[in-house]
Amino acid sequence: MAATQEALYGRLDLALSWSEADLPERERTKHVHRLHPYLGKFVPQLVEELLRRYVKPGGRVLDPFAGSGTTLVQSLESGYDAVGVDVAPFNCLLMRVKTDDHDVDALRRDLEAARAGAEALAWAGEPPSQASAYVLEWYAPRAASELLAFRSSLEASASADVLRVVLARAARSARRTTHFDLDFPRIPQTEPYLCRKHRRVCRPVEEARRFLLRYTRDTLARIEAFAAVRRAGAAAVLHGDARTLELPGPFDGVITSPPYPGLIDYHEQHRYAYELLGLSQHGEHELGRPANGLSRAALETYVQGVADVFANARRSLLPGAPVCVVVNDRRELYPEILRRAGLRLETRLERHVNRRTGFRAGEYFESVLVCRAA
Ligand SMILES: C[S@@+](CC[C@H](N)C(=O)[O-])C[C@H]1O[C@@H](n2cnc3c(N)ncnc32)[C@H](O)[C@@H]1O
Repeated sequence: MAATQEALYGRLDLALSWSEADLPERERTKHVHRLHPYLGKFVPQLVEELLRRYVKPGGRVLDPFAGSGTTLVQSLESGYDAVGVDVAPFNCLLMRVKTDDHDVDALRRDLEAARAGAEALAWAGEPPSQASAYVLEWYAPRAASELLAFRSSLEASASADVLRVVLARAARSARRTTHFDLDFPRIPQTEPYLCRKHRRVCRPVEEARRFLLRYTRDTLARIEAFAAVRRAGAAAVLHGDARTLELPGPFDGVITSPPYPGLIDYHEQHRYAYELLGLSQHGEHELGRPANGLSRAALETYVQGVADVFANARRSLLPGAPVCVVVNDRRELYPEILRRAGLRLETRLERHVNRRTGFRAGEYFESVLVCRAA
């Protein structure tokens, strides 16, 4: 009976169920993990523990839904090589910036030069002439002008990708939104408003310069902090659809969390970055995209898509390698996904998550499915 219950509902794993006191926010967002906001990431300590338990020390790890790169960053910190795949170009840029083995002295010089440039930004009181419709709608004239000036200047820098991430982060903060709706604002906020977060009247942001200055400094500090703790190992970031992309195996394990159906649009959450950086969008290949809905046909496409990703990953694994899937399977889709992917569930662990911040604040349980090739 106990064994059946465990297969159906999993076993609560207290070692993976950290409380806020065990794992305060500064630990969950240490060094490069907070280089840029990203909704839907898992905590690095979960990856750390799964690596320790299931993957051969010093091995190679694959994350086919790599997102903001938590698996890659933590693999490097724990002494593993890692490969991450994502279909969204901004996520790949962010992962590359987090995991590149930067020449920290050269980076410091480039970021200090960019900071000096941002410091000297002066606004003539005119809206920028070259701005797109999105920029004109979502930014006050001064903020738009500062962001576009920073964008022009970063092109010549040897650290342009790092500065693109700084620009995106500043662009996120400088949008005309309310403080309580930074994740998916629908219409620009152009007038003062009663702020639910600060419980007073707040004004929409008018300038971007202070964010550019703050984030240039913070980015450098975070990359330096990661450089001090990363161990030998290399990470590769591949842009593409993980259903069909040729994967450079063999791998000693997979650690991943797939998108959930209908929950987060992984392109739309960084819309400002796509608009300002001119990145191409591949939303049509994104599995579980909210725009696809939750009809029976949409769920079938999701199930087959995730199964195809895992089947592709399985073919690149060494014999007996673990596939660890972090998921909140409230629609009970995973038994069928694993069957179609040719994976066998070995252990199902439950972890208690008590999220204090963000749009999904609150308590819930999520599973870690530890699988192997059937
Ligand atoms: C739940 S998130 C992963 C978050 C990651 N664990 C982290 O900590 O940042 C799922 C990711 O899968 C990506 N994705 C969706 N469909 C994909 C596909 N067909 N191929 C590759 N990546 C895909 C999304 O862009 C998103 O970044």
